[in-house]
Amino acid sequence: MTIEEKIGQLVQRMGGRSKALNSRLGPDELAKVRRGEVGSYLHVAGAEPLRELQRVAVEESRLGIPLLFAMDVVHGYRTIFPVPIAMAASWDPAAAREHAVIAARESSAAGLHWTFAPMVDISRDPRWGRIVEGAGEDAYLGSRMAEAQVRGFQGESLSAADTIMAGTKHFGAYGAAEGGRDYAGADIGERAMQEVYLPPFRAAAEAGSASYMTAFNAVDGVPTTANAALLRTILREEWGWNGVLLSDWRAVEELLAHGVAASRSEAAALALRASVDMDMVADVYADDLEAAIAADPALEALLDQAVLRILAVKRDLGLFDDPYKYHDTAREAAVMLAPEHRAAAQLIAERSIVLLKNEAGTLPLARDTGRIALIGALADDPMSQLGSWRARGQVEDVVTLRAALEAAHPDVVYAPGADSRSDDPGGIEAAVAAARGADVIVLAIGEDYDWSGEARSRSSLELPGRQMELFEALAATGKPLVVVLMGGRPLAVPDIAGQADAVLATWLLGIEAGPAIVNTLLGGNNPGGKLPASYPRSTGQVPVHYDHLPSGRPADPDLSKDTARYMDQPITPLYAFGHGLSYTTFDYGEATLSSSRIPADGGSVTVTVPVTNTGTRAGDEVVQLYMRDPVASVSRPVMQLRGFSRVTLQPGQTREVVFTLSSDQFALWSRDGSWLIEPGAIDLMIGSASDAIRARASFEIVGSAKGSIAPAAIATRIQIEGGE
Ligand code: BGC
Repeated sequence: MTIEEKIGQLVQRMGGRSKALNSRLGPDELAKVRRGEVGSYLHVAGAEPLRELQRVAVEESRLGIPLLFAMDVVHGYRTIFPVPIAMAASWDPAAAREHAVIAARESSAAGLHWTFAPMVDISRDPRWGRIVEGAGEDAYLGSRMAEAQVRGFQGESLSAADTIMAGTKHFGAYGAAEGGRDYAGADIGERAMQEVYLPPFRAAAEAGSASYMTAFNAVDGVPTTANAALLRTILREEWGWNGVLLSDWRAVEELLAHGVAASRSEAAALALRASVDMDMVADVYADDLEAAIAADPALEALLDQAVLRILAVKRDLGLFDDPYKYHDTAREAAVMLAPEHRAAAQLIAERSIVLLKNEAGTLPLARDTGRIALIGALADDPMSQLGSWRARGQVEDVVTLRAALEAAHPDVVYAPGADSRSDDPGGIEAAVAAARGADVIVLAIGEDYDWSGEARSRSSLELPGRQMELFEALAATGKPLVVVLMGGRPLAVPDIAGQADAVLATWLLGIEAGPAIVNTLLGGNNPGGKLPASYPRSTGQVPVHYDHLPSGRPADPDLSKDTARYMDQPITPLYAFGHGLSYTTFDYGEATLSSSRIPADGGSVTVTVPVTNTGTRAGDEVVQLYMRDPVASVSRPVMQLRGFSRVTLQPGQTREVVFTLSSDQFALWSRDGSWLIEPGAIDLMIGSASDAIRARASFEIVGSAKGSIAPAAIATRIQIEGGE
């Protein structure tokens, strides 16, 4: 390969825009492909157009190296599933995996090899609009969702025609952006980096993620795309990961704006030294890497390594054996929006719904409910259910809440009332009139799709527009009021939590949003989702997360004491991490331990807890296991999730959940920069939410030992005993 041809492999160009795929694939682009100047395209799709583009690369360029075709297939390709934060609310990694299997099946049939997903950034600040794209605030839950999706996208083998390469993003602490402002720098300590932000990436690496994307932002002053300590040392050398590392959109060029490179060739050198293999659309490698190599010939060996890694994934995808295997138009037509894909979309949507409140059994609605007043523009907004990354999702594929409710119930009156965008209170009166004539109000409020996502940070977590006014006017009617809270982030809605009779968090649920919500309102689905991120009481309370450090002066409701709390609001979140109710009730028995002492080196402990459905309906409980290390060399979080299992229980049924943890799951990031299992007590807490602990047990670690990888990245082994 000539040096130009090598650099060509490192170049990813846009074949279109996310909303106008393939639109830039004109003669100039084809000429570049013929000259071997391109390694990959993004924002392209379609079995047929991509076959032609691949043909040009394979048959008309000197070396005939196939191209990689990539796209953001984040929560479905044509069959759109719930937004990722919603899928995380299912606490069901199998569901997340299933969604990815289907997304891979559809997108690979459309000629794609590579998705920029899963997005595994931990976010403890719901002001950050991209919280919608990830799994929320917790490293353990985030790790399970990360590995499940990687396995779903990539399947058993990357070379199968119906699997695609995962592009886990945005490595390393993009979600820690200051003030929740997208693209802003993060100032986190090494321990938070290792224990909170990196574990989902590690779990993805363990699951075999073939690629990663770097974050836009700087951490501790070092822009990630130039951060050799993070990318080359931690990701590659310490983790032993050898896949393709891609920059985010123009992130190599943005090293100039970050103020760490004075010229484009310097930016190219920094990114290559950090081991960034591919430059997404900035053309800095294309135009300026050669000059960088001329200035520093040592870079040529790094270029060779990058080329080899890119060629290796092309080989693993099977492209050298059959460059056209992802371009079968018959398969493309057959798989898109297949009935079983739609069915899975509804099931996963139902599993993603969280019942936040249910006074006096308001939900499910009785079969003989008379007139339902359905209020809220979001109930009739198909676009919003597609979320911010909709790939090839189509508005006409979406069944809205309105359409589904009107189909399921004989007497529905609909009024939009107010939406999340306009400041016009004009519709409120008609909505109140509709409500007065009804037996129950179902109010869909929250944020439309465009309030969350990239560059969609907010300074306020309150309901936008005139929706609070609408809510208050409806509450004043005295009719039973069910709120269906939509959107891509936790919202600060204390008045809704206080006054509504029932609240369902339904996020943005994809094409089967309406049927999933209606089936839940009417009791066909018993909600079993749990919050993957805390709901704050007010914007000023963020960041508020369950796994905070203890304080020397722990928060006390008594304001006469000087403690770690705000004077003007209660100390707890509005709804805690892990919270979610059911139409039935569950009882927990006592936790029993396999032993009261385990060795630090290679030890393991099993904790068993029986859970009983004490109500009259079948339901799912997410049994959550938390740990605390009460005395250690560094102050440890008050609790940390270390296991969970979503269990289905029939009325009266008891099942035992058996968690087995290895000693390295209790390690901490020590002051000398390694994983360390320390001697002493470990407290275990098992329950229904981080604020609803129902059983406890403690044991002791004897001796100390080195840990292996981030504890949150290690999956707890779980067995369920006591029938199906
Ligand atoms: C986003 C990435 C995305 C890329 C390509 C960037 O702006 O940060 O998440 O994968 O665009 O669409």
